[in-house]
Amino acid sequence: MEETQETKNIGLRGIKVADTRISDVDGEKGNLIYRGLNICDLVSYSTFEEVSFLLLNNRLPTAGELKDFQSELVSERKVPETVYGFMKMMPNTAHPMDVLEAAVSILAVYDPQLHGESREANLKKATRLIAKLPNIVAAWDRIRKGKEPVGPHSELTHAGNFLYMLSGSPPDPETTKDFDMCLILHAEHSFNASTFAGREVASTHAHLYASIVAALGALSGELHGGANSEVMKMLLEIREVDRVKSWVFEKLRKGGKIMGMGHAVYHTEDPRATILRRIGDGLADWTGDRRWFELTKAIEVATKEEFKKLKGKEIYPNVDFYSASVYHMMGIPTDLFTPIFAISRISGWAAHIIEEKFAEAQPKPELYRPDADYVGTYCGPEACPYIPIEKRSP
Ligand SMILES: CC(C)(COP(=O)(O)OP(=O)(O)OC[C@H]1O[C@@H](n2cnc3c(N)ncnc32)[C@H](O)[C@@H]1OP(=O)(O)O)[C@@H](O)C(=O)NCCC(=O)NCCS
Repeated sequence: MEETQETKNIGLRGIKVADTRISDVDGEKGNLIYRGLNICDLVSYSTFEEVSFLLLNNRLPTAGELKDFQSELVSERKVPETVYGFMKMMPNTAHPMDVLEAAVSILAVYDPQLHGESREANLKKATRLIAKLPNIVAAWDRIRKGKEPVGPHSELTHAGNFLYMLSGSPPDPETTKDFDMCLILHAEHSFNASTFAGREVASTHAHLYASIVAALGALSGELHGGANSEVMKMLLEIREVDRVKSWVFEKLRKGGKIMGMGHAVYHTEDPRATILRRIGDGLADWTGDRRWFELTKAIEVATKEEFKKLKGKEIYPNVDFYSASVYHMMGIPTDLFTPIFAISRISGWAAHIIEEKFAEAQPKPELYRPDADYVGTYCGPEACPYIPIEKRSP
């Protein structure tokens, strides 16, 4: 029996396709490690800028290196006017993820090193994209509301500057810190769907921008990065804690999914959900409105209970579950949740695309090329007779 017979039709679950030095997800113990460092330490002691340096360079920066990297990010925050011009021509109903995908393709043609394929050139391109993505997401939110984009603020951190470009006023330090932690938590997660999409495209020798556009497309789906905004829609639909039990019961009995719950790799609580629950709890106190946090918690409890009764097994919240109410409490529009995932994950994607391009973990055939068994129409080894158009019937 061919090897593919044993591995097909399982969505690649548990199939190892490559080695990586970037992150390790321990689905049994619920640990997440970036370049050897525990995510819990990184959210406690690092910033998103430092974590991006770590992901791209395989080590934490020295103080001087971090300062230089931060300055480089600040100097690369502006986007060409053409990008704003294109956004101004878009219907204001366009989804921010679609606008982001198109804007990244436009940015590509302005990158002076687009086809530079040295490691150094790829690092520069990655830094430019990390710096510019927040500008695009914030600008689109303003443009679609009939406002002018707010230019980047050179004195603010990556997290603070995004919140500033979105609202037009400098954010408070607490929200900035919480948002920075969210960015760290979403920055990397091994061979997830979007990262694999990016690596797969990079394996064809496509440039970094093309690979990132592929990753963005994969992220946009509701089973991946789109789940956080779906969680918010669920919260807005349920609205009251006393409606939670019956809503969850109905949903699960009808075979529906509770968004933000369950994970393809974690069989215990996603460590990012643990930290986001804590952030949400603090933010609820800080804003003086505990409604969204309490509602989220109640859905978690009800889903766990009902799922256990129905399927006889446990289910846990994933990264998207608590991030929804956290972003909502920060005043961020629901359809920006997934683009915000992207402005964080761009660092992980870029690290993976570079690892893929330079076979940094292990040598492997460059191009990914899986196989499939053909189970379609078959008329024998010579194929079916071709019927001219005038003789065809529906
Ligand atoms: C992430 C996800 C796709 C993983 O799916 P998976 O790898 O198939 O997970 P499992 O194998 O553990 O699923 C086992 C069973 O639980 C069900 N299940 C998993 N997550 C569920 C959820 N959130 N709500 C209801 N049922 C769920 C599956 O449908 C499956 O049912 P079945 O055995 O009757 O076919 C899935 O949990 C999901 O769709 N979650 C909601 C979307 C989401 O939050 N995505 C973001 C992920 S970070």
